[in-house]
Amino acid sequence: MRFPVVIVSRSCKVVHRLKQSPFLSPASALWRHESVSVLRDVSTDVRSHYITTPIFYVNAAPHLGHLYSAVMADCLHRYKLLQGFSSKFATGTDEHGLKIQQAAEAAGKDPLTFCTDVSERFKHLFSSCNISYTDYIRTTERRHRQAVEHFWSVLWNKGLIYKGHYEGWYSTQDESFLTPSQLGDAVDSSGNQIKVSLESGHKVEWMKEDNYMFRLSAFRSQLLDWLRGNPRAVQPECFHQLVLQWLQHDLPDLSVSRQSSRLQWGIPVPDDPEQTIYVWLDALVNYLTVAGYPHKHHQWWNMVHHIIGKDILKFHAIYWPAFLLGAGLPLPQTIHVHSHWTAEGKKMSKSLGNVVDPLQRSEMFTADGMRYFLLRQGVPDSDCDYTDLKVFKLLNAELADSLGGLLNRCTAPVLNPAQVYPSFCPQSFPREQGGRAVAEDYHMLDAVKNLPSVVERHYESMHAYKALEAIAACVRQTNGFVQRHAPWKLDKRDSAEQRWRDTIIHVSLECLRVYGTLLQPVVPEISNKLLSRLGVQPDERSWASLNFLPRYQGTDCPFEGRALGSDSGVLFSRLESPDADKHEPNKAKKAAKCK
Ligand code: MSP
Repeated sequence: MRFPVVIVSRSCKVVHRLKQSPFLSPASALWRHESVSVLRDVSTDVRSHYITTPIFYVNAAPHLGHLYSAVMADCLHRYKLLQGFSSKFATGTDEHGLKIQQAAEAAGKDPLTFCTDVSERFKHLFSSCNISYTDYIRTTERRHRQAVEHFWSVLWNKGLIYKGHYEGWYSTQDESFLTPSQLGDAVDSSGNQIKVSLESGHKVEWMKEDNYMFRLSAFRSQLLDWLRGNPRAVQPECFHQLVLQWLQHDLPDLSVSRQSSRLQWGIPVPDDPEQTIYVWLDALVNYLTVAGYPHKHHQWWNMVHHIIGKDILKFHAIYWPAFLLGAGLPLPQTIHVHSHWTAEGKKMSKSLGNVVDPLQRSEMFTADGMRYFLLRQGVPDSDCDYTDLKVFKLLNAELADSLGGLLNRCTAPVLNPAQVYPSFCPQSFPREQGGRAVAEDYHMLDAVKNLPSVVERHYESMHAYKALEAIAACVRQTNGFVQRHAPWKLDKRDSAEQRWRDTIIHVSLECLRVYGTLLQPVVPEISNKLLSRLGVQPDERSWASLNFLPRYQGTDCPFEGRALGSDSGVLFSRLESPDADKHEPNKAKKAAKCK
C-alpha cells in the first residue's frame, strides 16, 4: 500500500515593508508611530479563494450558532472580493444519517420532503441576512452522490478502506464514535443510568457491526507533519494546539459505513448495497462537490478556508485531512474555528427552550444589526453569551449614535446647504502644524490612514471583533474632531472661516468613506446606504479605492465638489427597549483563552 506525501504550506507570500506615514509631520513625530504597509508580491499571489461553512443538519430549525458560522464566512468572502480576489462561497445542508432519518420519522414525513422543508428554512434565513453564498449544496443532490462515490472508489482503490468489524460507543446526535475516555455517566428523563459524551452531553450507545474501516491510523505522523509545518493551518492557535494534543494519542482506524439494515438514509457503498456510507465522510465531501470534484475542482481546490464551530474540529482537522491525504488532494489552507454562543449564560438547547431564533432576531434588530452584533461580540477563542439587551445597547451606541450621528451631522443641510462633498483647504489643515488643526486632529488622521491595514489583518485572521473595535474607535475620534471644532459655530460671512468649515466636513466625509468601505463585509446594507449618501459610486468602493484624504497629500480628490446622494434617511434607526437604559454599557469582549 502506498501513502501520498504530505502537502505543506501553499500560503500566499506577503512582503512587509516599513514605510513613513505621509501623516507624520516633524512637529508631532514623537507621539505618532510609523505605519506598516503590506504589499502583495503578485508573482505568488493566489487569486481564487474558496470559503465554506459547515453544512447544517436539517433535524431542527436554524439557530443563532448556525447564523454565526454563516456570517463569519460571508464576511471573509465579501472581504476577499473587495480585495480583488475571486471567491467561491459554499454553504448548504447535511441531510443524510441516522439522526435525520429519526427526525423525519418523528415528524411523520418521508425523509426527502422533511429535508427539503428544513433546508428551505436555512435558505430563507440566509437570504434574509444577506449571506451571499455562491453555491448552496444539499447532500441529497445527484452531483454530490457522484462525488462521494468517486471519492470512496479512490480510497478503496488505494487500499485505504477495508472490510472490518467495529465495536464501540456511538452518539447518534453527534454522529460520532467515542472512546471510553470521552464518556461520562448520566441519568435520562426516565431515571435510567446512561452513558453520555463528555463533550456534547449527548447519549451514546454500544454499537457492534461489520462494516468498512478507513486506515486512519496510518496518517497520524503525516497529520502531525502537516500541522507542525503549517502553524496557522488551524486558527485560533489554541485549537491548533488542541489538535496536536489529540494526535499525541493513538489514532484508531475509523468505521466509514453502517449496515443498511440500521441506516437506510444515506449513500450506499459502491458495489455493496448492504452498507451505507458514514454520514461524516459523506458530509465532508460536500466541499469537493461544490468545487467541481472529480473533474473540475482544480481552480478552487487550491486555497480553501473552512469555517467551523469548535464541536466539529476533530472531523475537520483529523478525519478530513486524512481522507484528503489518502485521496492525494491538497489540504485546506486554513480551518477557522469559532466558539459557541450561550443564551443568558446557558447552553442553547431545545429541551431548555432557550434556543435563540436568528430569523426572528434579524427581523427585530435588522439583518445588518444582527450581523454587526455577532461579529462585534463574537470572540472565536471563547464562548460568548447572547442577550437581547446587549444587542440593543451595542447597536444604539455604535451604529445609531456614533456612526449614524456622524453621517447625519456632516450631511445635514444646516451645515452643508449645498449638499456637496466640500473642498479641502490645505492652509487650514497643513501637513506641518500651524493652521487651524490641532495635535489630536493629526493623531486622528494617522489612525484613519492606518485603519485599512489594521482591519485587513483582523479580517484575514477572522477576528472581525478586533477590526470593528478599531473602526468604532476611529469613528469616536472623528466625532471628537467635529465636536472640538464645532463647525456650526463658524461665522458664515467670513470666507476663511468658511474654508475651515468646509475642510472639517471634507475630512469627516473622507473618514466616513473609509469606514463605509471597510464595513461592507460586515454590514452591507448600512455601508451601501452610507457610501451612496456620500456619492461614492459602486466601482469606487473596493480596497484599492480607499486612498484616504488625497488632498492632504497634495493630490486630487475625485469626490471634492461632487453632489451628495439624495437619500438623506437615517442610517440606522435607534432601537427602543424599555430596560435598555437601566444597565451599564457593556464593552466588547477581549480575546481570551479557548474555553
Ligand atoms: N452537519 C454537521 C457539519 C458537517 S460539515 C461537513 C454539523 N451541523 S450542525 O448543524 O450541527 O452545526 C453546524 C455549525 O453550527 C457548526 O459549525 C457548529 O459548531 C455551529 N453551532 C451549533 N451550535 C452552536 C452554538 N451554540 N454557537 C455557535 N455555533 C454553534 O455539525
